Amino acid sequence: MTIAFLPVDPDRPEPDLIDRAAEVLRRGGLVAFPTETVYGLGANALDPAAVRRIFAAKGRPAFNPLIVHVADIEQARELAADWPAAAQALAERFWPGSLTLVVPRRAIVPDEITAGGPTVALRVPAHPVALALIRAAGVPIAAPSANRSTHLSPTRARHVLASLSEAVDLLLDAGPTPGGLESTVVDVTCTPARLLRPGLVAPAQLEEIIGPVEQFSPAAGTEEPRRSPGLLGRHYAPRTPLECVAPSESARVAELLRQGRRVGWLTFPESPAVSLPGLLRLELPCEPGAYAAGLYAALHELDAAGVERIIVTLPPPDEEWLAIHDRLRRAAL
Ligand code: TXA
Ligand code: MG
Repeated sequence: MTIAFLPVDPDRPEPDLIDRAAEVLRRGGLVAFPTETVYGLGANALDPAAVRRIFAAKGRPAFNPLIVHVADIEQARELAADWPAAAQALAERFWPGSLTLVVPRRAIVPDEITAGGPTVALRVPAHPVALALIRAAGVPIAAPSANRSTHLSPTRARHVLASLSEAVDLLLDAGPTPGGLESTVVDVTCTPARLLRPGLVAPAQLEEIIGPVEQFSPAAGTEEPRRSPGLLGRHYAPRTPLECVAPSESARVAELLRQGRRVGWLTFPESPAVSLPGLLRLELPCEPGAYAAGLYAALHELDAAGVERIIVTLPPPDEEWLAIHDRLRRAAL
């Protein structure tokens, strides 16, 4: 199958291109499109056969449920059997944006979306292309990140092509996705609400709106695998083995180079600049937002460069780096 590759204006998407993509979705096809977090692989969420194509394209296990993207709170409520006060408060504050809310599902949501579970994950994306596409399609859009299961999420159209081109009918290329990390996922079916996946909306921002949120802990996923299966184990990972090191441990890089290994080193600008044979060194900014925006592109680049080992210098242990630590930890498993 030949993929239709359509460059689209990220701020004012061309209506004819959006209509073409919407038509593909309505006919049961798969459209890769940008969101403000990462590129998604979209299908009509109310069409079980189309949703099954997402799982096949990604090699995603059927037990891992999908996020449904909607245009506004009203469309979200059409899919929710109950709309807790916490959902309303968080949606009013953070939608459109990179926050996904897990709420009780209605029966019209296919089992393929929810993995047969009693809840559905919903979000209103902030990217103009994503919003225009949802509105034009006239249906909610199921969309996981547009990558093979467990691989790195795509933040550029070329990442999608490299991972999935065979299975996608149409790709809307709007350039780099600004956020760079997948949305924060919060379960609001319980009190206190529970953070299932950290993201760019931080726990403190959630707590400002709804009070205490049960904090994410790395071990939670293993204790309760059914709560959010996608949070288990290795994920968001390059193909090349990856190790994280403390800021002072550039010695690990030197050691691998001495052994004759080709090393990709992802670090910060202030660490001593070295240029050694066998070393490909990339730097990301010391500010968490800018780091997040560049993280996956840097890992994709090191992966594609054919190094034997990727070493990542860890950022500080502060809460503002929570989501980044989470992704790096999973990538290193
Ligand atoms: O930023 C994002 O969220 C991107 C863009 C495309 O919107 N999407 C994304 O989807 O990251 P995906 O499928 O790669 O990750 C969805 C996560 C998984 O960890 C999944 O297990 C969890 O959300 N999830 C989905 N439905 C759930 C549910 N009903 N209950 C608990 N967790 C759920
Ligand atoms: Mg994903």
